[in-house]
Amino acid sequence: MGATGIEREKMYRAYCEFFDTGEKKRRWNPFSDVPWEKLNTSLNSEEDAICLETFCGVELYVPDYTSNAFNLTRHLFGAAWFEATWGYEESKHALIYREYLIRSGLRSEEEYQRFEDKVLGKVWTLPYATRRQMNCYGALQESATYLIYAQQRDKAKQNGNELLEQIYFLVSRDEAAHRGFYQRIMQFELEEDREGALEDLALVVFNFQMPGVGLIPEYEDRLEVAGVGITPQYFLQHAVFPLLKTLGTSRNELMKYYRRVREREEKARMTKAVEMADIPTAMAV
Ligand SMILES: [Fe+2]
Ligand SMILES: [Fe+2]
Repeated sequence: MGATGIEREKMYRAYCEFFDTGEKKRRWNPFSDVPWEKLNTSLNSEEDAICLETFCGVELYVPDYTSNAFNLTRHLFGAAWFEATWGYEESKHALIYREYLIRSGLRSEEEYQRFEDKVLGKVWTLPYATRRQMNCYGALQESATYLIYAQQRDKAKQNGNELLEQIYFLVSRDEAAHRGFYQRIMQFELEEDREGALEDLALVVFNFQMPGVGLIPEYEDRLEVAGVGITPQYFLQHAVFPLLKTLGTSRNELMKYYRRVREREEKARMTKAVEMADIPTAMAV
């Protein structure tokens, strides 16, 4: 709603480019484009299992991610069609992690099913209300996910696990492409309304949480396992600061906008408190 003709055109072109590159360079089949014949169960550990299971859990929320995203984007072709393609790509991530967990024997069918039931027993909801805020969130979340999977890819390579290396290579390449799309959309948003976009970015940066928080069973305990997450410092250095640089802003500028957001929120809270305090008086009259 409210998208200008220019915005529609930019989004459409950005989506077409994303889709065309994806079709030509990134399409892969979880059953035939990874070397399943190289599955070597002696290379696996419980640490690998917890990582894969946790990642699979986060990827399993595709129905919630896409239904919410469609509600926010259905009026804007480029954005809505991106969500459709994005959902398809994310769906393969859950599928291949599930396949690896079971084919490797790291989890039995029953164990996996119990885990999936627990995960889908909870519902993911939008952490932010607007499409622009969700674009900010998408840029950061995809970046964090890429970094986590890229670390796993490198670890699998070091361990000589060619199958797992290829899986993490394909999945992390998708995440990098998702990050790129959201970053591009953020650039459009800044061209459209720099101050508003930076306020939203500040809000998201200073409150960022991964989607698995509060949803994946024992998520906090899982984060203790090496490789499940990345440190806040690594996230800042490799996700937040590069994004700020790409968008032509800085940490100091973002702080300024965050203070503005907080002040506005505080003012709204105060106004509400005053209104609430007025209710008994009004009722007494
Ligand atoms: Fe994914
Ligand atoms: Fe992604």
